[in-house]
Amino acid sequence: MNKLKSIASVFTAFLLVVGLAGCSNASGKAADSSVPETKPADSENQDASEAPAETPAETPSAHTDVLVAYFSATGTTKGVAERITSVTGGDLYEILAAEPYTNDDLNYNDHSSRSTSEQNDKNARPAIGSEEISLEGYTTVYLGFPIWWGEEPRILDTFVEAHDFDGITVIPFCTSGGSGIGRSGANMEALAKSGTWLKGERFSGSVSEDEIRSWIDSLK
Ligand SMILES: Cc1cc2nc3c(=O)[nH]c(=O)nc-3n(C[C@H](O)[C@H](O)[C@H](O)COP(=O)(O)O)c2cc1C
Repeated sequence: MNKLKSIASVFTAFLLVVGLAGCSNASGKAADSSVPETKPADSENQDASEAPAETPAETPSAHTDVLVAYFSATGTTKGVAERITSVTGGDLYEILAAEPYTNDDLNYNDHSSRSTSEQNDKNARPAIGSEEISLEGYTTVYLGFPIWWGEEPRILDTFVEAHDFDGITVIPFCTSGGSGIGRSGANMEALAKSGTWLKGERFSGSVSEDEIRSWIDSLK
């Protein structure tokens, strides 16, 4: 008799569980409570039958909304850019010169070297050799470079003139032998003609991720 009773109570419990599961599916709410109410703009034309039954709350997007774009002739700015990428979880993009800079090109003791000649010419626009990038979808762009003769290398001017920064906050950063970021950000803002430009920051090549994190927090 006792055995019969316990079988009956196990069965009743099973029925209860099935019944409850059925209720939550019928309303369609219980399982979906974590889905944001706002739909992505392009979902309006989507056939409901093709839509996934559930949208995970953290679906990875095609790319993040943070981009770290940088030019680095000898690797110092590259290291800082990689640490900013690690702290922000953003995407990393290297601005490469179509014609790479040789050691002779970078010789600042030679006043007729390529880098010095370019810096002396405000209209110089060295061509970019890396694959083109679209800034669509990015809301923050960290823009890194070495200081050359107190300013951003002219290839940065090529980059900013080629892109639309509308709706984007641009945060310049640089490395140098000691000079500050100076007027680099203002120069590029004037050429870009769009975007919200912060003054930016100069870092030594050995800046740590913790120092970068504090800097980013101080911008908020
Ligand atoms: C052509 C040229 C000009 C430079 N001018 C300056 C300068 O005006 N002030 C300064 O502190 N460092 C200057 N530097 C040093 C670089 O800014 C520094 O080494 C930087 O960290 C290099 O970054 P990168 O390795 O990413 O190219 C210059 C370097 C070069 C090649």
